[in-house]
Amino acid sequence: MSEILKIENLTVSIDDKEILKDFSLSIPKGQMHALMGRNGSGKTTLSHVLMGHPAYELTQGRIIFDGVDITNMSADERARLGLFVAFQYPAAVPGVTVANFLRTSVKAIHGEERVKKGFRASVKEKLKLLGIDESFMTRYINDGFSGGEKKRMEVLQLLMLEPKLVILDEIDSGLDIDTLKILTEAINAMKDPARTFILITHYHKMIDVFQPDQVHVLHQGELAATGDLSMAQQLDDMGYEKFYASITA
Ligand SMILES: Nc1ncnc2c1ncn2[C@@H]1O[C@H](COP(=O)(O)OP(=O)(O)OP(=O)(O)O)[C@@H](O)[C@H]1O
Ligand SMILES: [Mg+2]
Repeated sequence: MSEILKIENLTVSIDDKEILKDFSLSIPKGQMHALMGRNGSGKTTLSHVLMGHPAYELTQGRIIFDGVDITNMSADERARLGLFVAFQYPAAVPGVTVANFLRTSVKAIHGEERVKKGFRASVKEKLKLLGIDESFMTRYINDGFSGGEKKRMEVLQLLMLEPKLVILDEIDSGLDIDTLKILTEAINAMKDPARTFILITHYHKMIDVFQPDQVHVLHQGELAATGDLSMAQQLDDMGYEKFYASITA
């Protein structure tokens, strides 16, 4: 089984504070792995670092994506290779409309041909699927969007960009039940032997919906445990305090 992502001994700091410590994780192509861990354990930091966010200092380790060392690559380069993060807190980009953003990013990743024939129809179809009104196309991306609208926008990008590695950072947070159903169904339909997912979530319901191949638990910036779906159930039953105590005992 070939591994699409190899994180090797990654240590990451911000303002001299170590957030990820000697973190290693490998994910085989085509699988979905869940990442859990209490608030502040480093999950979002890991997704930012994987995407190449410049604010973090990598003091040790490397990241191999699809056989390529991407440790020092820019976020743009990583996106072109097929990495994608649906952010926990999507940023507004005033001045850039949704339509322009989609066109530019799809073109940068998949080439000119993709944004020619059939592009508008493809966007329209996805808007419909996700229940996004067409008027959003002329709005500035995430500018004044509600929490749920921002999450729909992240999934719209995912559907349009067709990345190889998808990191979903709490895509479930703040969604009403109907929106959650629409988005999880759209994401599940993206599952493919050539596409790999990292699902960051606090909720067992998401584990039930997506049935990831493995579950990893972070604790204070370290990988504390790896297991199957039963481990997520165990976490749900025990809570983090007792779970961490049980694995360090
Ligand atoms: N820019 C920053 N400046 C200072 N501290 C930071 C910064 N970014 C992250 N941290 C710290 O790193 C730690 C990990 O944060 P991170 O957002 O990765 O946690 P998380 O596991 O995603 O938590 P949550 O479940 O609440 O989303 C926290 O203590 C956070 O305050
Ligand atoms: Mg987070």
